[in-house]
Amino acid sequence: MSGLHVAIIMDGNGRWAKAQGLPRWRGHVAGVDSVRDVVRAAPDLGVRVLTLYAFSSDNWKRPPMEVGRLFWLLRRYCIRERDELVANGVRVTAIGRRDRIPAAALRALEQLERDTAEGTKLHLRLAIDYSSRAAIAEAVRTLARQVAEGRLAPAEMTEQKLNHLITRGVAQPDLLIRTAGERRLSDFLLWEVAYTELYFSPTAWPAFRREHLAEALADFRRRERRFGAVPATREERQVAVV
Ligand code: FPP
Repeated sequence: MSGLHVAIIMDGNGRWAKAQGLPRWRGHVAGVDSVRDVVRAAPDLGVRVLTLYAFSSDNWKRPPMEVGRLFWLLRRYCIRERDELVANGVRVTAIGRRDRIPAAALRALEQLERDTAEGTKLHLRLAIDYSSRAAIAEAVRTLARQVAEGRLAPAEMTEQKLNHLITRGVAQPDLLIRTAGERRLSDFLLWEVAYTELYFSPTAWPAFRREHLAEALADFRRRERRFGAVPATREERQVAVV
């Protein structure tokens, strides 16, 4: 699948709600409208994989009422958006732990994964109960088990093998966007973002729309990505286009 992989830390729901004089959870409700808008716009903007940080493993520390609302919203999203996602060729998969997701939300999520499995226009990955450190630790455990069982030599515990277990073959994000002004990664895709371009938007997630995504992508396309190499000379660039 060619096209860009964009990952988004959807931040600022609570602050947005507070600024409107609303309870925090109303920011999450409004955030679902942003998810819908960005998912609709992504394929036309050249995005083929979109990874959204919907619930971090640290979010369990939030009040149970807010956590409950978030999973209620997730379930509602999976049920209500199903037909449109299928019609638009969106394939939805989840990354993160599944064993703590409330049963009704998990059922809806897995149903959506099955129903959208044939989608080829956009791969929408929802990070739910996700922790990047936990994902890396899990991959290391998998290789360590193989070593303990004598199926793998320690020298064969390579970066490539770890990469495959962590990314499951999904290319690293080209661009990571975090909304609402904070500049940190919050345990999101730590391994995968080694060469990802970072973009911090001041806009809170509930106000983030396709124009903001288009702006981030325009900024990204102006950047020169070097992946540790030296910048190409003008002559080399000319040879490359011939
Ligand atoms: C961060 O804002 C946002 C979240 C923890 C949840 C994001 C969830 C959604 C947008 C809705 C559900 C998602 C889907 C895919 C249906 P915050 O609450 O930390 O904001 P704050 O920093 O202003 O408090």
